[in-house]
Amino acid sequence: MQTTLAAALETAAVTLGGGDGGRVDAEILLAHLLDWPRSRLLAYPEAPLDAATAGRFASLLGQRAAGVPVAYLLGAREFWSMTLRVTPDVLVPRPESELLVDLLLAELRDRPGPTVLDLGTGSGAIGLAVARERSDAAVWLTDACAAAAAVARDNAAAHRLGNVTLRIGSWYEPLPAGLAFDAIASNPPYLAAADPHLASGGLDHEPRAALVGGDTGLEALAAVAGGAPGRLRTGGLLVVEHGCTQGPAVRDLFAAAGLVAVATHRDLAGHERATAGRRPG
Ligand SMILES: C[S@@+](CC[C@H](N)C(=O)[O-])C[C@H]1O[C@@H](n2cnc3c(N)ncnc32)[C@H](O)[C@@H]1O
Repeated sequence: MQTTLAAALETAAVTLGGGDGGRVDAEILLAHLLDWPRSRLLAYPEAPLDAATAGRFASLLGQRAAGVPVAYLLGAREFWSMTLRVTPDVLVPRPESELLVDLLLAELRDRPGPTVLDLGTGSGAIGLAVARERSDAAVWLTDACAAAAAVARDNAAAHRLGNVTLRIGSWYEPLPAGLAFDAIASNPPYLAAADPHLASGGLDHEPRAALVGGDTGLEALAAVAGGAPGRLRTGGLLVVEHGCTQGPAVRDLFAAAGLVAVATHRDLAGHERATAGRRPG
């Protein structure tokens, strides 16, 4: 028997737990399957849903109910007003990481033709946002995961960003000798290996290598900070994202690496989220 969009959405919202979030997710998934804007679902609640689409909708709902992020089900996520392809090989880009883009663009405002590095680029979110805003910038991306790097490469091509160079390897290791940057950004993995959040909130579907920074959670941040002075131009800026309780430890890592003017910035929720420091002149 054929159902209507309204009836299918009502059942779906219950499948996803009955809250507003479940209803919104159901609308996003159904709109994606129909290739409609979400608003059109609400304008035509009595429209029929054919059996084939209903079957595909049920399959997506089952995966969503099992905790698979909506972005993986759609294969896409918005970041900095760009639609980025995402796969289970990359972290789903988070809105709070746009703080790093803000800080980079402010830093580079008066610097023509800057060189910029995004370490652990994943989908390419941070580096590609800078490359799009600053067509005069030379933006380098690295990631240790070849499958993640392939997604970043696809995203650079989809957005026709010709000012991007991608390298596969650990942090600074795949970069040409002697190359130095005006600014380096990184959102490295920063959870501790035993962090209880890893088993919840959808994180169990994202790549562990994108989430876990080592036993303490600070290991990747230490590698990024430790290598920065050797890759920054004099006065150049390193900015990293980190967990909201890691600010003091990250400031210590920056100081131990010899970076100066170290400062931590808060995200829109008021949490310490990003720390910046400079190579001394
Ligand atoms: C938290 S994700 C960030 C992804 C993306 N920058 C973002 O903000 O959405 C961390 C990324 O670091 C990469 N990564 C982990 N260890 C690495 C290493 N040793 N060298 C380079 N990249 C690494 C992971 O593959 C993952 O893509």
